[in-house]
Amino acid sequence: MRELGAEWKDRPDDLIQWILESAGDGEASSEEELIARLLFLNFASIHTTTAAVVHALYDLAANPELQAPLLAEVTEILSKSGMSKQSLTKMKKLDSVIRESQRLNTTSTISMMRKALVPYTFSDGTHLPIGTWVVAPAAAIHQSASIPNPTVFDGFRWERMGAEDEASGKAGKHAAVATSFENLIFGHGKHACPGRFFAMQELKILLSHVVERFELRLGGAGGRPRNRFLGVSCLADREGVVEFRMR
Ligand code: HEM
Repeated sequence: MRELGAEWKDRPDDLIQWILESAGDGEASSEEELIARLLFLNFASIHTTTAAVVHALYDLAANPELQAPLLAEVTEILSKSGMSKQSLTKMKKLDSVIRESQRLNTTSTISMMRKALVPYTFSDGTHLPIGTWVVAPAAAIHQSASIPNPTVFDGFRWERMGAEDEASGKAGKHAAVATSFENLIFGHGKHACPGRFFAMQELKILLSHVVERFELRLGGAGGRPRNRFLGVSCLADREGVVEFRMR
């Protein structure tokens, strides 16, 4: 980059390159700063998805009645159209289970962290002086949402709500990637997670594979492993046990 700059025609098209280019020559171009940015993005993309998998496995094992309908859905879709993006979109029950698992085990209890770059006054008169940080209490919102029994894990609730809204063409709003003031799993608005479509595909490929090949049940002392909290981060229990039996 330093030698060739804009003249470098066959430059890589990857994350390290994007970070280098957006840093330019200023303060952000120090090695320490570049590495911090890379690690931050690793955390934003890899840790979140990994945590979502572990939570979903715990929820599938703790709610074994979900497994047969999921197996039926996955088998039917894969036997007709194989593994493809379209097939993953059709896995509505699996999408619903992932959304429900993320709703009750939101990776960060807060979402939509924003800083007032100019003084700002909301319509209700609340005033933010310049530099104020504001966040949305995502986990609290998820558990008091306007849905029946919001604190209860109901794996297929979003699939049922989607089916009810099918006729009005609004089924998509119940998909896991559809952010809203009530679904802050991936944030909302201009800075909503751009990786959510990719993340949901990863999660569906992995979990459909698990559901197809294994029966799951909780091991250990019984009961869904409890979450641990580190500040605002919700961590899946690292001691939890899930037993897999090959179908
Ligand atoms: C289950 C997995 C994931 C979860 C739960 C998640 C969650 C989030 C949340 C809550 C935000 C903040 C959104 C906001 O402030 O409105 C965010 C931002 C972001 N996420 Fe994700 N994410 C996931 C996966 C990924 C993946 C796989 C990537 C990249 C491949 C990614 C890249 C990003 C980036 C770059 C931002 C910053 C966007 C911006 O500030 O404009 N995320 N994510």
